[in-house]
Amino acid sequence: MTPRPAQIMPAPPPPRHFADLNDLSADELREVLRRAALRKREGRAAPRNLAGRFVLLMMAKPSTRTRVTFAAAVARAGGDSAALDFAASQMSRGESPADAARSVSPLCDAVALRIGAHSELAEFAAHAKCPVINALTDRSHPCQILADLQTFAELRGEIRGQKIAWIGDANNVFFSWAQAAKMLDFELVAACPPEFRADRDGDDSIRVRFTESPQDAAADAALVMTDVWTSMGDEAEKSRRTAAFRAFQVDAKLMARARADAIFMHCLPAHRGEEVAAEVLDGPQSAAWIQVENKMHAARALLEFLLPGEKGESEGKGEKS
Ligand code: CP
Ligand code: NVA
Repeated sequence: MTPRPAQIMPAPPPPRHFADLNDLSADELREVLRRAALRKREGRAAPRNLAGRFVLLMMAKPSTRTRVTFAAAVARAGGDSAALDFAASQMSRGESPADAARSVSPLCDAVALRIGAHSELAEFAAHAKCPVINALTDRSHPCQILADLQTFAELRGEIRGQKIAWIGDANNVFFSWAQAAKMLDFELVAACPPEFRADRDGDDSIRVRFTESPQDAAADAALVMTDVWTSMGDEAEKSRRTAAFRAFQVDAKLMARARADAIFMHCLPAHRGEEVAAEVLDGPQSAAWIQVENKMHAARALLEFLLPGEKGESEGKGEKS
């Protein structure tokens, strides 16, 4: 019998996932942000360096911005994407994240997954053959913060050492911002009722100072942010949350506590008259619509970073900023 040949091809390296912001090092995060800004400057002239790549978007919760910006990012870079209707997928009938990952990931170059429990995303990633990107879980929303950091850098420059204010729920978006504060060395002050921040205590991947006073948080801040009081999945608590956060609305009076050149951010969707007054969201300090556009550039930069062979592809072609 002919002996089986020894395996001469090395096993492929395990895929690089993006489940949380700190799956990148601080230097890698800066590199992704640099690349996102570059792609924005290049506009339609950006290289079509995702040609032949296929990215699957799996969204178990509603999404307007994340889904469309990922699809647009891939299309502009010459690749293809598909959005799997989660309700029509077998996962909605109880197929495990592990089996779904084993099935779809070998067919894809990356999967962007929006799912309820962060543990489900971790299970999917553990069995995936391609990079898995967190497109929002109950714990974090790191893709949003890439776009937000890009937006801050674009409008105000270096974030290191700046005071940033978060007003409201210590939710998934907040959590990724608190990881960013530790990675990029800025001051994050969050005004949140104590009963809505307990989950965050003792997490040493984040840096934040909590206060119960929105005025304290906003004072002299370079950026004031908020998000909905009731996130997707928290609907059963809506009336309790509405009562608890009533004093945590970002209005013009609160913005006046911040620096004169402060900007306002909201990941959207927003509820005018709840967490933000219309005068702020629709006012001159609002960066909300720039954040949305930057989600596309940030998604693209992240994909280029995570996909083997794309990292640094156009280095040396005059793209340094
Ligand atoms: N900000 C954000 O993630 O928006 P969508 O829920 O519309 O994707
Ligand atoms: N915190 C919100 C963000 C939506 C983009 C939610 O989880 O519903």
